[in-house]
Amino acid sequence: MTDLFSKFDPLIQQRETLLSTGVTDPFNLVMERVESPTVAICNGRRTILLGTYNYMGMTFDPDVIAAGKKALDEFGSGTTGSRVLNGTYGGHKAVEQALKDFYGMDHAMVFSTGYQANLGIISTIAGKEDYIILDIDSHASIYDGCALGNAQIVPFRHNDLDALEKRLKRVPEGAGKLVVLEGVYSMMGDVAPLKEMVRVSKENGAMVLVDEAHSMGFIGEHGRGVAEAQGVIDDVDFIIGTFSKSVGTVGGFCVSNHPKFEILRLVCRPYVFTASLPPSVVATAATSIRKLMDSAGKRAHLWENSKRLHAGLRQLGFTLGTDEPQSAIIAVIMPDLEKGAAMWEALLNEGLYVNLARPPATPANMTLLRCSLCALHTDDQVGEILGMFTAAGRATGCIS
Ligand SMILES: Cc1ncc(COP(=O)(O)O)c(C=O)c1O
Repeated sequence: MTDLFSKFDPLIQQRETLLSTGVTDPFNLVMERVESPTVAICNGRRTILLGTYNYMGMTFDPDVIAAGKKALDEFGSGTTGSRVLNGTYGGHKAVEQALKDFYGMDHAMVFSTGYQANLGIISTIAGKEDYIILDIDSHASIYDGCALGNAQIVPFRHNDLDALEKRLKRVPEGAGKLVVLEGVYSMMGDVAPLKEMVRVSKENGAMVLVDEAHSMGFIGEHGRGVAEAQGVIDDVDFIIGTFSKSVGTVGGFCVSNHPKFEILRLVCRPYVFTASLPPSVVATAATSIRKLMDSAGKRAHLWENSKRLHAGLRQLGFTLGTDEPQSAIIAVIMPDLEKGAAMWEALLNEGLYVNLARPPATPANMTLLRCSLCALHTDDQVGEILGMFTAAGRATGCIS
């Protein structure tokens, strides 16, 4: 018998080598208690959270929590059914209406996760004779959406406008084309040149899908994302998003003005063949989305936090993923996995949680300490965070 697990041997070996150094397992941390969007208890210690996607700090919002509790009491713990059977409650329609209002779009379709939204929309709209032209650094859910469908896949170099244009021009005349982009790329925290990319896509007859998972709620005047900030939201055919980041719960969605959009509810398998979100989740999401419409003050504070952390880390001598802060994600580039894990652990011991990211999730085989800020991080907390980076950086020899 061939052991089907033998393909994982190199990874098992790498993991064992890392853990044999005595370093805490960076992928197995337990949040023992979560006190707020910015503080948890880990290993019995107060820990500032700098690695969550809780950009707008909605997880403990009193209105959001009250809406969830009310829905739990009134509608029970789950729907036990697909959206197309018994799984559409008033709450599902209400959250879709909140999304339509938030984006000013005609249609909104809610999935059980953002992962499933990409899986479903991409695999359903791009068929056998069609082409998907996508940024090579696209999220795993975008690649998996491509893998689930039958279209031809054409990747282009990250954020490279010329490369996108060349690929578009090579697609056979008359073939359907879908360009897939992200607003903010989650590993390095960099933003796509959507204005130019959407223009080039349209000039070459392509439809455009933008995943705004890491920009919703924060970027753009109304928090609609990078497409809004760069003035091209009306030219984007499909926006994909998630409730697991700024919205502060779980779920995914697609919004669109396409006149035939509603047919997707009958043909999109990751929408049809899975249970719908629990009533409490859609109630928290709807409340959160409506509050995000009116959060300009929080957006401004989050930008301040992002700029201050970026400048402070740079001044300390860390190498960062972007020259300027472009989003709420700041990636600190580590020389290798061993150093990255040591720095991650030293920060944890100081009382700071960040995300350790490593290949294959990262571009160019980099090891990253990904910091993601929250609108509810206080000025004092940002100061504390910089102090912790100073101490951990010196202890591990990452900075002098
Ligand atoms: C760009 C992007 N799209 C989609 C997703 C999936 O979101 P969800 O957590 O809702 O499955 C993520 C999650 O990290 C993401 O970064």
